[in-house]
Amino acid sequence: MKVEVSLTPALYPYRTVTEHHVTVAIDLLRATTAVCAAFQAGCREVVPLDSLEALEPYRAQGYAVAAERGGKKLPGSDYGNSPTEYMSKDMCGVRLAYSTTNGTVSILRAADADLTLVGAFANIDALCERLKEEGRDVVLLCSGWRNDFCLEDTLVAGAIIDRLSPFASHLSPLGDSAHMALDLWYLTQNDPYTYCSKASHVHRLQGFGTQAQADIEFAFEMNTCPVVPILKKGVLTL
Ligand code: MLT
Repeated sequence: MKVEVSLTPALYPYRTVTEHHVTVAIDLLRATTAVCAAFQAGCREVVPLDSLEALEPYRAQGYAVAAERGGKKLPGSDYGNSPTEYMSKDMCGVRLAYSTTNGTVSILRAADADLTLVGAFANIDALCERLKEEGRDVVLLCSGWRNDFCLEDTLVAGAIIDRLSPFASHLSPLGDSAHMALDLWYLTQNDPYTYCSKASHVHRLQGFGTQAQADIEFAFEMNTCPVVPILKKGVLTL
């Protein structure tokens, strides 16, 4: 089993694992944490979209619209990408059309894998169980921020590799980005939340008030949403 890390969506096309693999799209703050929260709250499906224009046909078909740009919920949308907002609502049966700055872009980029999953700390154990069952090579795609590297997604990647390592006794030698993610996780695993207080997107979100702060704290909690969203034909379901 090979496990590879793409540190940004821009690097994903240069990965070495390209066949018969699972790609996990990771955007801890907050897009993939929010997807897990929406499903945990009962959401039926999430359609990830990379442009705001693409949301409108779904609105016309009765989808609820969830849209964020630059960390802020867009005016006129029903939801944003706040995981704590989803967790506080009854989302039973809701179909979401969802567009965010980075996270939905990387979910869509990951669609070329044989199996595309969504990952965060919120679903990490359920996700790793699924990866073990699959037994295929894995690419961990970190969303970062506008194609730049970010600390928090890299930590999630490192934590996933850490959980897969004992299982994959035949884990192939890791590439440098996977080593770096794993080492960073080992260094910070006792308190990843405090370590990431220096992260640029944490600073960005902290300027947006108390709900964003609650979202940050929620995102660093493990296994709050034991769901494994799967992308099939452009739609995320469980
Ligand atoms: C994204 O997709 O870039 C994020 O979810 C941004 C955010 O935290 O609002």
